[in-house]
Amino acid sequence: MSPPNKIVLIGFMASGKSAVAKLLAPQLGWNAHHLDDDIVSKSGLPSVAAIFKEHGEGFFRDLESSVALSLQETQRVVIATGGGIITRASNIEALKSNGGIVVYLRTSFETITQRAGDTSSRPLFSDRASALQLYMKRLPIYESFADIIVDTDDRSEEEVCTEVLHRVEPLLCR
Ligand code: S3P
Repeated sequence: MSPPNKIVLIGFMASGKSAVAKLLAPQLGWNAHHLDDDIVSKSGLPSVAAIFKEHGEGFFRDLESSVALSLQETQRVVIATGGGIITRASNIEALKSNGGIVVYLRTSFETITQRAGDTSSRPLFSDRASALQLYMKRLPIYESFADIIVDTDDRSEEEVCTEVLHRVEPLLCR
């Protein structure tokens, strides 16, 4: 088994994955990577919302899987995934292989709705009721894939980052 060399942040939309990746990566001397940015670049379209609008969710998921696979060998990186990365187990297998540690940023739905703000850039957060349904469905899946779970309610991004660092640092080969 490869020594841990990659941190993969998972969690529902607006759980703070991107912000924590950006704070955490420099503290490790690693790079931060945002999976949605790669998907958007690969699509040639301007945004995630545009991909969903032009081609639908299936097309987005295929791009997401191919980007996840392309990061399989990447090392010394903190990856902020999109909330739906767990819809395909093969995505997590790819990101976990070669030393990926999966950290779930667990956040209550109440906090998610407070943090989400303007949801127009998030096609799967069009209304509260369907977002809640998706949240309930995904919750056990995030937990099942997590190597480490960090709760984020009532905590700043800095506090979450500090806990992630404390929990993963003993496992890392640096
Ligand atoms: C999605 C989450 C989004 C983005 C896309 C689909 C999801 O990322 O990948 O809109 O299925 O939960 P964030 O979790 O960064 O909002």
